[in-house]
Amino acid sequence: MSKKILLSENEIPENWYNIQADMPNPALPPLHPGTKQPIGPEDLAPLFPMELIKQEVSQEKWVEIPEEVRDAYKIWRPTPLFRASEFEKLLGTDCKIYYKYEGVSPSGSHKPNTAIPQAYYNMKEGVKRITTETGAGQWGSALSFACQRFGIECEVFMVKISYEQKPYRKLMMNTWEATVHPSPTALTESGKKVLAADPNSPGSLGIAISEAVERAAMDENTKYSLGSVLNHVLMHQTIMGQEALKQMEKAGDFPDIVIAPFGGGSNFAGLAFPFLQYKLTEGKNIRCIASEPASCPKLTKGEFRYDFGDTVGLTPLMPMYTLGHNFVPAPLHAGGLRYHGAGVLVSQLLKDKLIEAESIQQLDSFDAGVKFAKSEGILPAPEANHGIASVINEVNKAKAEGVSKTILFNLCGHGHFDMSAYEAYFAGNLTNHYLTDEELTTNLKELEDIPMG
Ligand SMILES: Cc1ncc(COP(=O)(O)O)c(C=O)c1O
Repeated sequence: MSKKILLSENEIPENWYNIQADMPNPALPPLHPGTKQPIGPEDLAPLFPMELIKQEVSQEKWVEIPEEVRDAYKIWRPTPLFRASEFEKLLGTDCKIYYKYEGVSPSGSHKPNTAIPQAYYNMKEGVKRITTETGAGQWGSALSFACQRFGIECEVFMVKISYEQKPYRKLMMNTWEATVHPSPTALTESGKKVLAADPNSPGSLGIAISEAVERAAMDENTKYSLGSVLNHVLMHQTIMGQEALKQMEKAGDFPDIVIAPFGGGSNFAGLAFPFLQYKLTEGKNIRCIASEPASCPKLTKGEFRYDFGDTVGLTPLMPMYTLGHNFVPAPLHAGGLRYHGAGVLVSQLLKDKLIEAESIQQLDSFDAGVKFAKSEGILPAPEANHGIASVINEVNKAKAEGVSKTILFNLCGHGHFDMSAYEAYFAGNLTNHYLTDEELTTNLKELEDIPMG
């Protein structure tokens, strides 16, 4: 049995997989925030380069990866697929567990898989500056790296609580010459509005998105970039799942279950969609499980309806599972999972019961991550720990049923910049957070004027 299953550089996939071509029910269209009518490409043009807008709505099953993007991917791709043999031993399971490891990328997670093509298409269309938000700092780091590679300025609005928890993430972004602001700021009308209501706001991804979008909309040389949620972002990430398909074939296996943590859906979609393709087109029996925090449970407790992608209401309205765009989750340490909504494609697939979701408590996630680090040696990002906790849940179910399953999960990032979170966990200072039904109802009530979908 090989511990790691590797591919050579010339096996980097030549196309991204677009699941829109295979979905039984197409996703509903995004709506204009003002008119509430379906938006067209021209509505998105102030924010995104045209090539990405085309990818957003493309129904083509395969979209070619440009040569310069594949060249940049060679820095860290193909990423290894590991057999989690030591973790299996620790759990005492007959299940076979595999993981795709994305922590080998320059910024330490799966995020550069889309940062590189996004910066590339912006560069091709002459864009000078890109604004973005970041939660954990993973996305901001990835985009800073990608912008520098293609000679574009990068301005990052980093959720204030993460900015304070992760000073080295900021320095990493600065090393790649990005400017980083703790959000909410007084630089934008959106930030000022939030600060007026709560001067001590810890920030949220929704607020940081409002700030980044506002900045881009005000300057014709500046565009905006999102690290998850959107169709083209999920599509770029399918490079992971396509590599994993080849690697599982080399291992002579195919997963019964694919698991990944869930923030907006990009690492989940990136690993799961290429496998899900066989369920959609050939009826293959495969379960894909998205793991989200119990304190930000949009997939398991949220409502499927139209909502804004940001807090202030500047983005188009998207049909998705949401906790309400004003929802500010508890300041848990998996900053990348603190988002109120979910990608449109993942939401439609969940609504159609083609994928599953599970919520995980913060303490269970760290317990799982520490077990994994002790056995496999790699210290996971707090986001990734949610997926590992779901793996343990599936292993326990298999044990109870007396069956053996093949499980593949996404170890989507390392936790080297997240040691303060582990420190708090070891010191017994971390707690679980629940979202109460009352909180949820209050938040969703604020969406009454928005069409349901
Ligand atoms: C390491 C890591 N995993 C997962 C996520 C969640 O995002 P997504 O659902 O887009 O993969 C993030 C987001 O920042 C992240 O940094």
